[in-house]
Amino acid sequence: MAATLRLNYMSYHTPSWWKEATAYQIYPRSFNDSNGDGIGDLAGITEKLDYLGELGIDLLWISPVYQSPNADNGYDISDYREIMDEFGTMGDMTELIRAAHGRGIRIVMDLVVNHTSDKHAWFRSSRSNPEGPYGDYYIWGAGRNGGPPNNWLSAFGGEAWSFDERRGQYYLHIYTPNQPDLNWDNPRLRADIYAMMRFWLERGVDGFRMDVINQISKPPALPDDTDPAPGTRPGFRFYTNGPNVHSHIREMNAEVLSHYDIVTIGEMHATGTEEALRYVSPERNELDMIFHFEHMLLDAGPGGKWDVRPIDLDELKRVFTRWQQALHGRGWNSLFLNNHDYPRMVSRFGDDGEYRVQSAKLLAGVTYLMQGTPFLFQGEEIGMTNASFETIESYRDVETLNYYAEQRAAGVAEAEIMRRIHLASRDNARTPFQWNGVQGAGFTTGTPWIPLNDNYRSINLAAQWDEPDSVLSFYRRLIRLRKESAAALYGDFEVIEEAASPLFVYRRQTEGEMLTVVANLSSTKHAAPQETGRGTLALSNYADGSPNITALRPWELVVLTGAPVQPR
Ligand code: NOJ
Repeated sequence: MAATLRLNYMSYHTPSWWKEATAYQIYPRSFNDSNGDGIGDLAGITEKLDYLGELGIDLLWISPVYQSPNADNGYDISDYREIMDEFGTMGDMTELIRAAHGRGIRIVMDLVVNHTSDKHAWFRSSRSNPEGPYGDYYIWGAGRNGGPPNNWLSAFGGEAWSFDERRGQYYLHIYTPNQPDLNWDNPRLRADIYAMMRFWLERGVDGFRMDVINQISKPPALPDDTDPAPGTRPGFRFYTNGPNVHSHIREMNAEVLSHYDIVTIGEMHATGTEEALRYVSPERNELDMIFHFEHMLLDAGPGGKWDVRPIDLDELKRVFTRWQQALHGRGWNSLFLNNHDYPRMVSRFGDDGEYRVQSAKLLAGVTYLMQGTPFLFQGEEIGMTNASFETIESYRDVETLNYYAEQRAAGVAEAEIMRRIHLASRDNARTPFQWNGVQGAGFTTGTPWIPLNDNYRSINLAAQWDEPDSVLSFYRRLIRLRKESAAALYGDFEVIEEAASPLFVYRRQTEGEMLTVVANLSSTKHAAPQETGRGTLALSNYADGSPNITALRPWELVVLTGAPVQPR
């Protein structure tokens, strides 16, 4: 019995390159500026491919690089087939793809197709010519009682509808007024999107991260939302996982995705494990993975993301465990703790003061040794922290600026607004990569588009390069361990220490190998469980880590390998 169980582990998951890859998200604006204009660019990414290869990265997700007026830093696209002027040219993109592939690194582009920029040719035509070919490419509606068609609100403040004088109607925008939502129920729009996707796939890209892809289908009646779930905006529950979303994605898969050897990751807010399986079960022919945000919203209080409360790390363990168990053998997880929309992981889940180095390493270890594909976000591999700028003038993010203005208008004290912004602003993650400790942090020779985090003089890549105990050196070892271990890639997942305790202890097993991860998610010492006595040390986040310990130090992580044990 037991043997059969253990023999089955691989058949649950057909091995594939994207399951074994270690992915790295690049936010191009803040990665590396090759021409001194203060803005990162494509040539800057190409310059750093050797670094990424050396780190062990073999898949890049690059946030949008298409032509854009940058109302939302590239998530407002005015031309899907051109490169943003500030980032370079199509020639630079071709060169980046070529140079990455030459090093065995694949590239995933950001696919932003819930909305375009209001400067996109489709929208210009749609607003001026309702009867024309693009008249029905967006979601238009007549006003009601002198106001918009319904009571939905935008994710970035204000109403989700704006009135267009020219067309004499309102258009829907879940995000800023510069990001009108596309009408996915129009088959001609869908065909145009598929053609655009093929355009990029034919140029050699290896897949897509699909921006808010579970929001593309709106109920045609566009009903008022009189009962939004706590902490969510009116409308959210109607357009999230909406009525035709699965049929649209299945069509996209049949028309485009299934014809290429690529990987797809859908960004999906408010998607639990059962709904997730409807997107990622292989037999449904939709997507390969999703980014869900259950663990990323653990600090959101009743008032939503700006109402920050302390993260209960016990909750984090429970969420991780639930997703591991629910998807095991049925779908594939993505593994991440930060991206360009959330504060830095070490500042949020760890301790960015005294235990910055240990907690940054521990968080990476416990997260990326679960089953799934890791997605690192640029800078986490050196333990970059939140920015917390003193005044609003240093912030650039549209969501943050809107929130500040809204709260000021509502009479909230400046200091209180800034406190919330320090905790929750997306700009925390968007400060330039800290390559070295000299002026410009090696990011730019000019003036950076957003200020550097002041701590670049001490926290930077150059300082960590040859330092065996650095966060960077740990990431190199961690990535190597994951690649070399069948248990880390495909093994079963079993939690050993689940009860309320700062310890997170789990086991990954194949028929030939066992990996045990023992982590103390706290700033205090804690007695070690029996598991720490089993196996040889594979990885540790303290310089003198050992498998034979009786107590775990603050934020201590110990990873052991050994022969499998009988399933319990
Ligand atoms: C999710 C993206 O990650 C975020 O940066 C963007 O503002 C919204 N989608 C809208 O595109």
